Amino acid sequence: MTQSNIAMIGLGVMGKSLALNLVDHGFNVTGFDISDKHKQTALDDAKVLTPKGDKGRLITVDSLVELLGSLAKPRVIALSVPAGEIVDNVVQDLLNAGLSSEDIVIDTGNSLWTDTEAREQRYQGQLRFFSTAVSGGEVGARFGPALMASGNRDAWNYIEPMWHAIAAKVDEQGLPVGPFDQGEPCAAYLGPAGAGHYVKMVHNGIEYADMQLICEAYHFMSDILGMSAQEIGGTFSDWNKGVLNSYLMEISADILQTPDPVTGKPFVEVVLDKAGQKGTGLWTAVNSLQEGAPAPTIAQAVFARAQSGQKAVRVKASTVLKTQSVKDNNVDKQQTLDELRDALYCAKLAVYAQGFDLMNSTSEKEAWQLDFAQIAKIWRAGCIIRAAFLQEITSAYQAQSQLENLLFSQHFVQEVEKRTLGWRKTVANSALTGVPMPGISSALGYFDALRCDVLPANLLQAQRDYFGSHTYSRVDEAEDRKFHMSWSEEPRSQKEV
Ligand code: 6PG
Repeated sequence: MTQSNIAMIGLGVMGKSLALNLVDHGFNVTGFDISDKHKQTALDDAKVLTPKGDKGRLITVDSLVELLGSLAKPRVIALSVPAGEIVDNVVQDLLNAGLSSEDIVIDTGNSLWTDTEAREQRYQGQLRFFSTAVSGGEVGARFGPALMASGNRDAWNYIEPMWHAIAAKVDEQGLPVGPFDQGEPCAAYLGPAGAGHYVKMVHNGIEYADMQLICEAYHFMSDILGMSAQEIGGTFSDWNKGVLNSYLMEISADILQTPDPVTGKPFVEVVLDKAGQKGTGLWTAVNSLQEGAPAPTIAQAVFARAQSGQKAVRVKASTVLKTQSVKDNNVDKQQTLDELRDALYCAKLAVYAQGFDLMNSTSEKEAWQLDFAQIAKIWRAGCIIRAAFLQEITSAYQAQSQLENLLFSQHFVQEVEKRTLGWRKTVANSALTGVPMPGISSALGYFDALRCDVLPANLLQAQRDYFGSHTYSRVDEAEDRKFHMSWSEEPRSQKEV
């Protein structure tokens, strides 16, 4: 029998979808899963593949020895297993089954990037460890995901044709095309081990924040403007035709216009308001804190999920904590909506600026030389944060690869300037009425701090010196000269330390 081009270990939702996508594009795949049910479902689904495909074939095997025997050399084995020690267990099982040093193992799960870095070190000389972070959920994996690859450079030569074939594609304008159309693939080699998973982690941080911003807009429309879920969905649908066009906006419009099949109420109103999380947004926020690369809106989105989880406390607080607030009964609805749309756009842009700044800081530290135009390019289709304005982000980094902050791009300077009043009024309305807007307001705080040439950190440094002799630099001396004021003595005097 013809040998397989690639094996997929783990035929759950993501693994099966990637395997069928590969088959659709003419590759022969060997599948393995500890669950016989998963294997059978994959084989059944492979019988009804997308008609246009230049089909390969899927076989399943019962052991890793059989799996290795079915593959052309060097063997390429993709893992779609839960992140964590299972990845190492499977790699060890593959080594025991006879994997050789030229063989390539690709982790396609949502692994922590530092684990991926450690794995490349650990398996050096035993196999070529590679990683590819996949975004796009089940449908993306099946018909065109965004693929963020990293690891051994030579291994990429074997993997690239397969990843380019199955990835989402965009046309010359950066717009998504069908899975079998010609176009630029949303798959790229991003750097050494860990880089791909790192970029995907930041993608997820941006995803958390983008979702939170949309949710705040929904809350504002519902509680301040008294709009129904159906009407809000309609407005989102309109916004999705303009600068806010994105997958998350599109699905939010659809969700809001869907009735609950059980009660007939708007579906969104029967969903319990407690958000779950698997942890990638938290990893991004922790990384931002550790690096000192501010991503406050991403961190805020993680906190917002945590606060949503404290339902019982919130229910109690809603009756205990009274507040004064201002309600304007004569609001101009259309104008308020226009301001909200502007606020959403600016806040979203600030989130991307935070995410790219964070990537820049880690890229420098790890000497990865991440290519931000390329990252923006592969996020244009297939992934969860795909959005029309990623084309403009791509152009911004193509024009200036060393952009210090995305908000400095001439295009975005102008785009934001004409919307800042709407952003400020929206945040003011939310504060006056008491309808929370932690993400949109934190993004405004980030923007204003960024454009503040003198922050009150002068007072803060003086406070640190006052109680802890932590020293300060002076504006009229070289920054590396450190001084201390004798706060407890009179008259006070300054000493250089
Ligand atoms: C994607 C998604 C995907 C997933 C995460 C989010 O890019 O396809 O980001 O990785 O939806 O698991 O998970 P949580 O919201 O559960 O943290």
